[in-house]
Amino acid sequence: MTLSAEAIEAAKIDALAAIAGSDSLETLKEARLAHVGERSPIAKANQQLGTLSPEDRTTFGKILGQAKSALNDALEARSAVLERERDARVLVEERVDVTVPARRTPKGGLHPLTILTNEICDLFLGMGYRVAEGPELEAEWLNFDALNIPADHPARTMQDTFFIEPRELNLVLRTHTSPVQVRTMLNEKPPIYVICPGRTYRADELDATHTPVFSQVEGLVIDKGITMADLKGTLDHFARSIFGPDVKTRLRSSFFPFTEPSAEVDFFFNGRWIEWGGCGMVNPKVLVACGIDPEEYSGFAFGMGLERTLMVRHGITDMHDIVEGDIRFSQGFGSGVK
Ligand code: DAH
Repeated sequence: MTLSAEAIEAAKIDALAAIAGSDSLETLKEARLAHVGERSPIAKANQQLGTLSPEDRTTFGKILGQAKSALNDALEARSAVLERERDARVLVEERVDVTVPARRTPKGGLHPLTILTNEICDLFLGMGYRVAEGPELEAEWLNFDALNIPADHPARTMQDTFFIEPRELNLVLRTHTSPVQVRTMLNEKPPIYVICPGRTYRADELDATHTPVFSQVEGLVIDKGITMADLKGTLDHFARSIFGPDVKTRLRSSFFPFTEPSAEVDFFFNGRWIEWGGCGMVNPKVLVACGIDPEEYSGFAFGMGLERTLMVRHGITDMHDIVEGDIRFSQGFGSGVK
């Protein structure tokens, strides 16, 4: 443009209009570039100052200076307004309602059988026992022979036991937790006080009272001077802790190859005697097989089914509820997390 007071005034008015007309920080930025940026009419006019005579330079320098400062003031003021507007809008648009209920990930819980197992372990740990575990895939010798169960015993038929192929490996899915007794006695010197919970397998069909995969808990004590009275006292305490303080137990004479004498233990609950498990004094033959001198030590053992214990205690009538893993069933027992 040709430098004149009118042209500068016109550029200034243009610029002020663009600034006033900016309705967002983005358009204001564009107006700033166009009207006070390097290539704006005002900037170009400024570049021409050098070509003027000293008096003109002073005159136009002053006019241009005033115009620039008026535009900067206008830009700053408009920017302040637009920023306030944006902040107010963001506050509304990005508002977070802290009262909206959170989307919760449901917390997991322990299976009722695990809760019962933990409860039993806690009870025996409190009496100085140790928790012992063994493999579910077990040597046939430990599952049967070492427990004085001979090769022709009916429990050792295909009908009852899952044998593992190839048969030369002599492996079975353990049919009870009793092999953990043997493992413990082979590896430790008396005194021995262990509780052994675990999963066990038998070739049964799943029905309301049976499941081919089930759980047992085994107790074993080997020490000097252990008698059947110790066994009875321990079972009484165990039963009262699981079923309530008034529960009575009774021993019925029975037979297990690994105990002598042997007994079935029943407990009196809700007006009737209920079979709970097997027990007895560890057979001296088993002690010898495990390298323990029966002249010096004696001991007792017991084993019971955990599903059955859970079913009786909670009035569960169908085994399917325990094995199917429907959380609607499990939830009634709480998470089991203390
Ligand atoms: N192992 C036996 C079973 O599964 C239960 C049992 C009976 C365990 C007597 C014992 C015991 O420790 O002494 O049928």
